Amino acid sequence: MTRGRLVRASLLVAASAAGACAPSGAPSVLDPRGVGARRIEGLWWLMFWISVVVFAVVVAFLAVAYVRGHRKQTRLSEARWGGPFVVVSGIVAPSLILAGVFVVSLNDMMALSTPPQEPGLTIDIIGHDWWWEARYQGSGAVTANEIHIPTGESVRLRLTTDDVIHSFWVPQLQAKTDLIPGQVNSMWLQADEAGRYRGQCAEFCGLQHANMIFYVIADEPGKFESWLANEASEAAEPAASGAARGESVFLQSSCAGCHAVRGTEADSDLGPDLTHLARRETIASGVLDNTRSELARWIIDPQSAKPGAIMPPTELSSADLDALLDYLEGLK
Ligand code: CUA
Repeated sequence: MTRGRLVRASLLVAASAAGACAPSGAPSVLDPRGVGARRIEGLWWLMFWISVVVFAVVVAFLAVAYVRGHRKQTRLSEARWGGPFVVVSGIVAPSLILAGVFVVSLNDMMALSTPPQEPGLTIDIIGHDWWWEARYQGSGAVTANEIHIPTGESVRLRLTTDDVIHSFWVPQLQAKTDLIPGQVNSMWLQADEAGRYRGQCAEFCGLQHANMIFYVIADEPGKFESWLANEASEAAEPAASGAARGESVFLQSSCAGCHAVRGTEADSDLGPDLTHLARRETIASGVLDNTRSELARWIIDPQSAKPGAIMPPTELSSADLDALLDYLEGLK
């Protein structure tokens, strides 16, 4: 390696270290907002600094070798400390470092398996290609892709999948946990403060894996309770005549074949529960904002937003579409 390359490599490492300090609000393990994520951050920095020291030592040896390389070539067998040096730096030191990191991470993994307090709330999380279903035990509340939790409390998640392996990961709150067919996995979440924390499927699950986004929304306990009570309730009767017409469009078109609106005849669980759709900030598993125009696009031409998604296009007259949008926007 030339001196120029050595300098460039060192600069690259320094730049990555600087870039690792994520801006506030980014879905990064380096911006933890919960007790679980803080432990992972500690482990991340420990591994980072060990790597920096190892890198610095290796670079120092390379520099020495470079300088000495210009002098007389010495065979390893002729070098006085050659044999012991290879054994210590090539076998003993890496083994000790890796064993140390293994023990520390095992300790953290054990600590992360137990919540800091007994969870009062359990949510069933079901992975689908490519969206997340959330069922709140005990209340009957069902939602999708936006999972509300109360701040300052441990919440238990029971993770299952409807199809392939997915992985539930909210970097600012907890370690990732896989959703495995035929198995129930369990994890817990706890957020220190109110906020919206982005989550992501972290196991490749097909074409739209990268767009299997979700949000964990932590609310103050009082606000959470009223959200939960609303979410558990059935849909209100459509208030205006346009929305009432939209309800019949919904029930008579293909929508009702896949989606549930509790309180109506539509009760399929193939797609997300839409009983309180209008309260969600995003649709299509975090891909589109929940606005009238994006909702229209999602109904008419979902494949343009999320190619491969199971949602089929729906052909509607513009009057029917308008009425349907009125109805969906009223599902609060
Ligand atoms: Cu689900 Cu990747």
